[in-house]
Amino acid sequence: MGNKVTKIGVLTSGGDAPGMNAAVRAVVRTGIYHGLDVYGILRGYQGMIDDDIIKMETRSVANIIQRGGTILKTARCKEFYEYEGRKKAYENLKDRGINGLVIIGGDGSFRGAVKFSEEFDIPCIGLAGTIDKDIYGTDFTIGFDTAVNTAVEAIDKVRDTMDAHDRIFIIEVMGRDAGYIALHSGIATGAENILIPERKTDINDIISSLQEKERRKKLVNLIVVAEGDDFGGANELHKILKEKMPQAEIRVCILGHIQRGGSPSCLDRLIASRMGYHAVESLLEGRYNVFVGIMNNKMHYIPLENAVKNKAKISEEWLKIVKILAS
Ligand code: F6P
Repeated sequence: MGNKVTKIGVLTSGGDAPGMNAAVRAVVRTGIYHGLDVYGILRGYQGMIDDDIIKMETRSVANIIQRGGTILKTARCKEFYEYEGRKKAYENLKDRGINGLVIIGGDGSFRGAVKFSEEFDIPCIGLAGTIDKDIYGTDFTIGFDTAVNTAVEAIDKVRDTMDAHDRIFIIEVMGRDAGYIALHSGIATGAENILIPERKTDINDIISSLQEKERRKKLVNLIVVAEGDDFGGANELHKILKEKMPQAEIRVCILGHIQRGGSPSCLDRLIASRMGYHAVESLLEGRYNVFVGIMNNKMHYIPLENAVKNKAKISEEWLKIVKILAS
């Protein structure tokens, strides 16, 4: 590589996350500030393969910083898993003279970027955009703060009716492979139990703690479960609890995709803006095949390869706090 970056492409890939628009805006405007041509690639890697690419101007990203979703649209692209798909994508970029790529997405999107950068000579830079916050090497991912606040707002509402009726509620939040939304929203709403994919769920332990609480007339109990918990999601848990505690009033609420939408929080807009700015600066400085993360409020550049090889770790201390506070 080594050639000066003059034309960059930006795309959003995988599950959308609130703040992706703010990141796109930052990339476009920083690129234009530096005199680069900036292209928006539609529907993630699929648009790269289909040559669905548009020229971006300063005004193309006006009035989007506050909007959820992504104006570039997104997709989970199967064709990009194959060499042929990646080659087609590369040829389209080459034909247009695009010689730098900013990928806003989660670990699946980063995996694609690693493969692409191993095979072809286009510098790539990642921005961690996922509500799951399951990316190694960063304290924040774009979209997590908004998603977790959406979950907290919804759980608070459920709590009102749960308390009025003295019920047990099982609330399922998103997180196929990661328990961050469950852990953060569960602690913030005073959940008695939080079930996450990273920890083996001990169903007997949950049952005995609910029975113990029932004996001392604590009938209101909140269980927050990540959709990818090893035991299964909320419906599975409900079935088992009902078998063991037929007299208990148990209800299920699955929050689902509302967690992915909505106007991004201030924090998500800020980190998206900072990460987008630094992504372009980094490409211009010749630092690429990394993603831009933030640790202790400082920008960090983590090789994409390390990001996909390592897993973000759940804090043992947080799990201990859940146990202690849930009495
Ligand atoms: O990766 C974000 C996420 O929202 C996960 O929490 C969830 O499991 C998944 O995407 C759902 O993806 P889809 O919208 O493609 O069903």
